[in-house]
Amino acid sequence: MNKQIEGFSRLNKNQKIEWLTKTYFKEQDLSKKILEQYWNTDESLQKLHDEFIENTISNFYLPFAIAPNFLINNEVYTIPMTIEESSVVAAAGKAAKFWKHRGGFKAQVISTEKIGQVHFMYEGDKEKLSRFFENVKPFLITAASSITQNMEKRGGGILDIELRDKTREIASYYQLHCTFETLDAMGANFINSCLEQFSKTFIEEAKSYSEFSETEKQLQVVMSILSNYVPNCIVKAEVSCPVEELNEDDGLSPKEFAQKFIRAVQIAEVEPHRAVTHNKGIMNGIDSVVLATGNDFRAVEAGIHAYAAKNGNYTSLTHASIENGIFKFWIELPLALGTVGGLTSLHPLVKLALELLGKPNAKELMQIVAVAGLAQNFAALRSLITTGIQKGHMKMHLMNIMNQLKATEEEKNYFLNYFKDKTVSHSEVVNVFNKLRAKA
Ligand code: MEV
Repeated sequence: MNKQIEGFSRLNKNQKIEWLTKTYFKEQDLSKKILEQYWNTDESLQKLHDEFIENTISNFYLPFAIAPNFLINNEVYTIPMTIEESSVVAAAGKAAKFWKHRGGFKAQVISTEKIGQVHFMYEGDKEKLSRFFENVKPFLITAASSITQNMEKRGGGILDIELRDKTREIASYYQLHCTFETLDAMGANFINSCLEQFSKTFIEEAKSYSEFSETEKQLQVVMSILSNYVPNCIVKAEVSCPVEELNEDDGLSPKEFAQKFIRAVQIAEVEPHRAVTHNKGIMNGIDSVVLATGNDFRAVEAGIHAYAAKNGNYTSLTHASIENGIFKFWIELPLALGTVGGLTSLHPLVKLALELLGKPNAKELMQIVAVAGLAQNFAALRSLITTGIQKGHMKMHLMNIMNQLKATEEEKNYFLNYFKDKTVSHSEVVNVFNKLRAKA
């Protein structure tokens, strides 16, 4: 069967589904029903979602949950989280509760600079290029003024444009390395528009620069694009308390707990295999808040992992210490987030999530997201160094297994009770389930 199609994007939604189900699925009616089941009955809401991207045929649900009781900089927050993984929200809630009684989380934005680059090739005299750049720099900025004027009125805009010689890496390769302050916007559109304008002006001005030879005038822009690596857009979050306030945990004294906790962090600092999993747990918290608040989790992920490897080795984003009897645990990471623009004023759940957080500005959101990451890491390490994570994980996973088995509400209650004091495993749940059904 021919699985290709011309002009797919011009079909309407029903025609797209018709083609798709006919071409790819054995049970055409059933697959159509599944897709339609997720349509919103409110037509205007469905249209809004349809228009976020191209070729929309349905909606993809993820749970939208909340983790209350986060004390951050002396304010209480209920944090919205969008994630499919069992136990992440429960872990956040537990960490929030633990630290609420020990002074809460303290967070602070260190810097907010964003970056974009015009990558270009130039064959010629370097000195001449530097002189040309110094000449053209003010024009680059004024030529972008229609793009920057609103941002400037609010206190942001272009911070600087630098010429960078990259010819050691690739022959003839240079960059305009540009920095921006985008305030409450993530800034991707703003930055990319500025860069494309810089590129145009740069090429035009080069053509008429009298010092350049004919070859030099032909400098070639390869691409103009923001960088998702933002090592100068940094937020820090931390918790601390006297060691003895850490409580006894699963047989460990507070001091033993603190020492084992610090060991676990040290391992992630020096061992990349562990660091990746350690940071993955942090991203459970970060991504779920980033998603719930309509931000670009791919950009955040890419930037954070690059930052974790900035010294040449992939390492932990969190650190811990005991000094003068005080246990301290902190995170430092780059976060390019927005609370205006993009989905933030379009997606009803995103708007609700931001309202729940008290309509934060981008800096406040950076702090909240960093705290969600730190809390998640605290909860994971606490389990790992005491009971192990499977106990909590499998308890939460029990519901997924029961749903797979199509258990009734009554059966679910029976199982929750049955496994209260037993280890959950997939095979054991299926065993007990089969026995229960056989009896019935
Ligand atoms: C699971 O999603 C995340 C953990 O593996 C993180 C960690 O090991 O620190 C529990």
